[in-house]
Amino acid sequence: ITPIYYDTDLGIDDAMALAYLLASPKVDLVGIGTVSGNCSAAAAARNTLDFLGVAGRADIPVAVGAHDPMVGAFDGGSPEVHGDNGIGDIELPAASAEAVAGDAADMVIELAHTHPGRLTVLAVGPFTNLAIALEREPELPQLVADVVVMGGAACAPGNVTPVAEANIWHDPEAADAVFTAPWTVTMVGLDVTMAHRFSLDDQQALTQSGRPAAQAISAMLDTYMSFYTPIFGEPCVALHDPLAAAIAAGDIDTVCAPTVGIRVDVTDGPGRGRTICDMRGRYRGYPAPEGARHRVVLEIAEPFAPRLREAILSV
Ligand code: BDR
Ligand code: CA
Repeated sequence: ITPIYYDTDLGIDDAMALAYLLASPKVDLVGIGTVSGNCSAAAAARNTLDFLGVAGRADIPVAVGAHDPMVGAFDGGSPEVHGDNGIGDIELPAASAEAVAGDAADMVIELAHTHPGRLTVLAVGPFTNLAIALEREPELPQLVADVVVMGGAACAPGNVTPVAEANIWHDPEAADAVFTAPWTVTMVGLDVTMAHRFSLDDQQALTQSGRPAAQAISAMLDTYMSFYTPIFGEPCVALHDPLAAAIAAGDIDTVCAPTVGIRVDVTDGPGRGRTICDMRGRYRGYPAPEGARHRVVLEIAEPFAPRLREAILSV
């Protein structure tokens, strides 16, 4: 069983990823920290606590994390993708549980010390909390076992600018700090997450299940569907954060996941927020690029939606 710390800007696909983690028998979800991205860090904590209440898992501690990125201020979120409240403007029953004292960076540091060499850090929002934690505890890279992030695009186009994916775009400085720290990061970016989608049929299966957590996700999905349907030309949504969660849980075999160096463009020009993946090692004649210790998932061995659907239905 893998202890996982989940860092999230919850978020509709973040809620699906949370459901996946709750369902997985291989995962011990030991703490959740929130960050501003899809909505504010405070709203993400409220959404997380309420969803945990619906799922009957109020025992999992939630810490509010960074409101603002390392540079500048939170831009207000993505209401067009995730609704004004981050979860498609549905109202979950208000949970009585509150966030713990201390922020998300403190939580991940404490968990890393509690589970030395065992903790998986899974980040599916901007990486601000991780960057703060790295500043506060320089030993963090030696303490954690694995880091899996949803973010970036190695070869695919961006989804906020032509080159920048949302989680990187919201805090490029933090993302660069995470990729330059002395640990190995598995990057699950748009190259692979845009290729795995939930259909109307999947959504209906959640509605018809009669299970509260599945029905809550189904209700949130209306907003997410409205955003993605014109993008894909049919009613479906991309499974960004859930796929990163399944990879963090160790459930997914990869077909193509090269070892690469990754830096983030932190300039103010048109490249800001781009993940620069050094894949020259894929040519025979080049030596492995310097700093090539990360893994970028480009293709997985299965259609992911059926596995996710089954997981959500079991919460
Ligand atoms: C990422 O941005 C957010 O909208 C999603 O929750 C996901 O983490 C996709 O670019
Ligand atoms: Ca997210």
